[in-house]
Amino acid sequence: MPTEKAAPAADVKKKSKTPETLRGFRDVLADEQAAWEKIESLARGMTQAYGFGRIRMPVLEQTALFERSVGKDTDIVEKEMFTFVDQGGVKMTLRPEGTAQVARAYIEHGMVNQSQPVKLWYFEPFFRHERPQAGRYRQFYQWGIEAIGSDDPVVDAQIILMAQRFCRDLGLDVIVQINSLGTPASRKDYIAELVKYFKQHKKALSETDLKRLTKNPLRLLDSKEPGMEELKANAPQIFDYLDEASKQHFMKVLEYLDETEVPYALNPCLVRGLDYYTKTTFEIVLNNAPSPELEGLALGGGGRYDGLIPMLGGRENTSAMGAAMGVERMVLAMKAANAMPPRREKIDVFFCQLGEGARRKGLAVYEKFREGGIMVGEAFGKGTLKAQLEIADKLKAPVAVILGQKEVLDGTIIIRDMESGAQEIVDVEKVVGIIAKRLKDVAEKQA
Ligand code: HAM
Repeated sequence: MPTEKAAPAADVKKKSKTPETLRGFRDVLADEQAAWEKIESLARGMTQAYGFGRIRMPVLEQTALFERSVGKDTDIVEKEMFTFVDQGGVKMTLRPEGTAQVARAYIEHGMVNQSQPVKLWYFEPFFRHERPQAGRYRQFYQWGIEAIGSDDPVVDAQIILMAQRFCRDLGLDVIVQINSLGTPASRKDYIAELVKYFKQHKKALSETDLKRLTKNPLRLLDSKEPGMEELKANAPQIFDYLDEASKQHFMKVLEYLDETEVPYALNPCLVRGLDYYTKTTFEIVLNNAPSPELEGLALGGGGRYDGLIPMLGGRENTSAMGAAMGVERMVLAMKAANAMPPRREKIDVFFCQLGEGARRKGLAVYEKFREGGIMVGEAFGKGTLKAQLEIADKLKAPVAVILGQKEVLDGTIIIRDMESGAQEIVDVEKVVGIIAKRLKDVAEKQA
């Protein structure tokens, strides 16, 4: 590859002969899998209910897509994109976000001819060369939802509602920070006022903020530099500069949120780090973050992007609204809130085998349970009954089935109640049916 060179020392964790993950990249191990599965299955259920169709997009796109949509003067495009030139001389980028991709796909596949709005969701990895820290990685997953082709404020409210309910259903106590950025025209007047205001306080601005003042003044409202809190609090507020239509739109969104009891707080400093937003913008943060690393960390965010589709060559006046939730951050928040699901699914039965003959026959009997839709635990690698029953206990199996040499010869198997220790011998051909019936009886009793 033309740009191939050794990684700078800062991007490999330490000099070691054993290869390790790159800085900001991570393996998701067994202890997190149940949470990831819960998140994805909730996302799937929710998008199905709200009529979203799934889209899977390539990880590489032409660099120009993000430069044009996310904005050349944003941190993402300026500093955080993994960009390289391939063997054919094409400049490409590992996608830093999904909205620009969905917009590209909407135009490329003529989705304007489908019934509008076209609602799409994705659950995929994205890449940003950020400084790694808790909740900030260079590869991270997002659950994204995009509704393209409607300017109705009810769509804004629905997307925000989905994001908030999603967090709530994962056991998280969150609040929506919300703002409106109006139209590009109304924002122009506001930005002029903002620049005027911050120019009066130029001496108090850091190097970074002075750069923002000339390049992307709205981002000053996002500044975490020392002393900025007070300056920001006294800065002109965008709400006073909104055009009438944006104001009406925003009020409607808030009414819908009130109606559906979505907790929100107005945040006039919420400008977001991507240039394509118009009107509604929002972020989801934890209420009373349980640990300092989660304080102020956005679990997700989004907003309206009415100008993006036309700007990329789509039909004029194609409005859109969307959001994306950060999966790693959801998991971090679930851990901190003690809302992690149990590591393993509950099992119905634990399968024990004793001796080589039983092990051989047991493999086939085990398959019969699995094919019968019964959740069976096993430890075929263990030899003694004691070791296997200990695992059955640990997994909280209500029942164990035990196959020994004698049972193999007799064509039987033992069913053991794990709580009372009571055992009975049944025909091995009938055991799956017997257990299935018992499970059904228990389920009916509990219903
Ligand atoms: P974003 O705010 O840049 O928006 O990212 C959305 C979420 O992705 C963040 O709130 C955060 O949870 C997660 N996230 C972002 N960067 C990182 C990172 N480096 N490490 C871990 N998690 C991260 C967007 O990407 C927009 N495309 C959202 C959108 C959809 N707007 C309209 N439609």
